[in-house]
Amino acid sequence: MSREPGRGFSRRQLLFGGAAAAGAGAATVLGAQAVGGALAVGGAPDAAVAGEAERAARLALETAVGEATVPFHGARQAGIETPPQACTRFLALDLLPEVDAAALRRMLRVLSDDAARITQGRAPLADTEPELAHMPARLTVTFGFGPGLVERAGGTAPEWLRPLPAFGIDRLRPEWSGGDLLLHLCADDPVTVAHAARMLLKDARSFASVRWTQQGFRRAAGAEASGQTMRNLFGQLDGTVNPKPGTADFDELVWATGEPAWLGGGTSLVLRRIAMDLDGWDRVDRPGREAAVGRKLASGAPLTGEREHDEPDFEALTPVGFPLIADFSHLRRSRSEVQGERIFRRGYNYDESPADGSVSDAGLLFASYQADVDRQFVPIQRRLDELDLLNEWTTPIGSAVFAIPPGCAEGGYIGDMLV
Ligand code: HEM
Repeated sequence: MSREPGRGFSRRQLLFGGAAAAGAGAATVLGAQAVGGALAVGGAPDAAVAGEAERAARLALETAVGEATVPFHGARQAGIETPPQACTRFLALDLLPEVDAAALRRMLRVLSDDAARITQGRAPLADTEPELAHMPARLTVTFGFGPGLVERAGGTAPEWLRPLPAFGIDRLRPEWSGGDLLLHLCADDPVTVAHAARMLLKDARSFASVRWTQQGFRRAAGAEASGQTMRNLFGQLDGTVNPKPGTADFDELVWATGEPAWLGGGTSLVLRRIAMDLDGWDRVDRPGREAAVGRKLASGAPLTGEREHDEPDFEALTPVGFPLIADFSHLRRSRSEVQGERIFRRGYNYDESPADGSVSDAGLLFASYQADVDRQFVPIQRRLDELDLLNEWTTPIGSAVFAIPPGCAEGGYIGDMLV
């Protein structure tokens, strides 16, 4: 994350000076007090006091959350290493039959230009609601290419760019699967996401039609200290063991090198829509829930440890001689013994309208990034397909694989190495 270049201090920081250092919360509290104080003056505040109150209220609401930006241009696309924002929208599009390589180029240029603008808080040229663009809230737009797009571009697709092999646990629905082009939006504000999605879809509409949209969320920005592991809707800490962005380990696992050359510095995304049976989960007691994963619900610690990041001890036994972390727990089954067979998870919760007789239709937008889907993701998913206690309450209902090309320089466009 970074602040917009040349904007070292926001208006909020200048107004509140030292108080700003204490964080957005302190600024908001000060603003609220100013409003309260002014309005309390004899029931009829004079114009100067009222004006001051109004100004304070406006500034108090103009928080760092809304102003923050993530650079769009660069060697790698934003939205992967970026600390996850609160809201997400995955938009999958299908190219219209008449779109050829030249049209594809035009589309990618226009989408890249507008994504570059809107992520920095600047309205795209044809924005009919430009006021909505002025709060970037760490908006990122990450482009993904399905096999259909690479073919249309006349490029060579990596071997793994195809639907995943069929797994026994899958109950895939076409309305959540596949797609030629992915536009993946994330921001700390839902209005920002809605507006950006509309602007980009308007750009794309003469080239492509919407195949599906999936929306997800994590905790609101500022609700808890940053850097916390997210909780999924089973109440579990989800994402504890994950490669750390910015490390050599992460670079090796996530960023593609070699062939095809146009993908160098890019990666792959496997997006699985996984329904979570919250009603069934309700019937499981706490020890049963913890045994299913092999971790404690409150702390996320392994059943053999005390703190979230303690190493699990798979040799530890109960007094009657069973492994404390069961062999069929999600933790045991998802853990790879092979160092290179790991993935980067950056998922989101979803929660939709429940069907008849149910209380929820919720789950996980399971997003996994890796240099090579076949080498890293598939072996893990295969193991979980064979045996994983969590399968009792989880069902994959959507699946899509995208190549995530590298980023682009200013003046370029995403995919300019391909088409
Ligand atoms: C709704 C479905 C799922 C839920 C609720 C879920 C939940 C969890 C939880 C609570 C953990 C332990 C904390 C952590 O390290 O994050 C975990 C770990 C993990 N999960 Fe899942 N998971 C799901 C699906 C998947 C899928 C589909 C895969 C891959 C194919 C996967 C791969 C992993 C990996 C690699 C770990 C870390 C294992 C380690 O400790 O080395 N999970 N998951």
